Amino acid sequence: MINYTEKIPNNVDLGRDRVLQRALEHWQPAYMGWWYDMGPDESHNYEVYLRTAISVEADGWAQFGYVKMPEYRWGIFLQPRDEKREVNFGIHKGQAAWQEVPGEYRSTLRRVIVTQGDTEPASVEQQRMLGSSCPSMYDLRNIFQVNVEEGRHLWAMVYLLHRYFGRDGREEAESLLARRSGDADNPRILGAFNEPTPDWLAFYMFTFFTDRDGKFQLCALAESGFDPLARTCRFMLTEEAHHMFVGETGIGRIIQRTCEVMKENKVDDPSDVRALGVIDLQTIQRYLNFHYSVTLDLYGSDVSSNAANYFTSGLKGRFRETKLEDDHVLSDAEYPVSEVVGGKILTKQVPALTALNERLRDDYIEEIADGVGRWQRVIDNAGIPFRLTLPHKGFHRAIGNFAGHFVSPDGEVLSEEAWKKQEHKWLPSPQDHAFVQSLMSGRVVEPGKFANWIAPPARGVNNQPLGFVAGKPQTGCNGIRRKVMIWLSFNGFIL
Ligand SMILES: [Fe+2]
Ligand SMILES: [Fe+2]
Repeated sequence: MINYTEKIPNNVDLGRDRVLQRALEHWQPAYMGWWYDMGPDESHNYEVYLRTAISVEADGWAQFGYVKMPEYRWGIFLQPRDEKREVNFGIHKGQAAWQEVPGEYRSTLRRVIVTQGDTEPASVEQQRMLGSSCPSMYDLRNIFQVNVEEGRHLWAMVYLLHRYFGRDGREEAESLLARRSGDADNPRILGAFNEPTPDWLAFYMFTFFTDRDGKFQLCALAESGFDPLARTCRFMLTEEAHHMFVGETGIGRIIQRTCEVMKENKVDDPSDVRALGVIDLQTIQRYLNFHYSVTLDLYGSDVSSNAANYFTSGLKGRFRETKLEDDHVLSDAEYPVSEVVGGKILTKQVPALTALNERLRDDYIEEIADGVGRWQRVIDNAGIPFRLTLPHKGFHRAIGNFAGHFVSPDGEVLSEEAWKKQEHKWLPSPQDHAFVQSLMSGRVVEPGKFANWIAPPARGVNNQPLGFVAGKPQTGCNGIRRKVMIWLSFNGFIL
């Protein structure tokens, strides 16, 4: 008899839900196979100081301890139910929130959940090789923490598919483990999740920019009239905050170190800065431009009838929907969107219902701008006259009204030829990537040591000292262990 509560921490009464147990008995071994193949490379024999969610209470969602990652207890948690919750927007506004999937929205909801779910394993795949070039044990632990939690977010979405969508849901859950980031034949669903994350500068940019897209999508889904989806996303948001913290502080520490070296050596030319083994601010700006623009595309078309339908039917709300003061139906409201007309960027008013993607993108941009402002303060405090800027939102876009246009970071519409000539002034070139990767040719894991190109953090994980040992090797044969684990899993043992 398997003790589900012990093996899979949950607050969904898994111990008594036979249907869910049977679905997981098949899916969990496949998940373990995926983790061994696509999870962090060469990490399986290490004990890592990780937080695990074992309950949704304040003292339970972040329990720290040493864990071998394949034995991480990926749990299933939903924010506790509010019996009085209603559908808060759209044509069903005022009805009791749905506890089961409304028949007419079944396939739309499934699509929304699959699209969100697909991003979670994708980012683990994108980041799987970074352990071998980590700048410190502190950072190595952080990336592993992000990875196991993205794994848990996949579990969260798979729970919804298994519990509420029957056979179709089980098939979708299998497909989530079959697609691969960047694969030519079976790629992940969304563009940014097929881009490589080749180095740590890209990783921090990804967790700052792209995990924050995750936050905004989860916030919109946390407003859903389908209550189990809303409650699942609410709980995921508690973990997401750490991922964005890793990104923001990671870039902040790189900038800090660069500024220190520039001041100490009185240099400001990028090639002189590079010669001192740190990343020049111009390269950081180009990475920023890239990650910002590909992440903006994730919000979809500026004008979208799908977005309108999701809202009208009560499936996906706006950022902080219930805090907004309007009718939450949007039948007459308008919203401005940009478009390129005759070589100029113009703004026009469109029905607000159709502009919900654009609105969520604008909410995101506002928060991003605050974070970039905090990085700027590090540069200002060092007295270095350099400005980090967010490019125009039409820059380097592949989806929406700007797709097919060539917009400079300043918002000037250029010819393709003029844009291409300056492309590597604005976006990382192969040489930039080669330089950044040359700094990250090996790993730094001696406790308390940091690579030359990044400053130490203000404090260690969970308020531990900076020299804290966050990971230690385990003896034993990885290959045999892996085979035994998968065999046990396939034979119905939830590990
Ligand atoms: Fe996630
Ligand atoms: Fe995340």
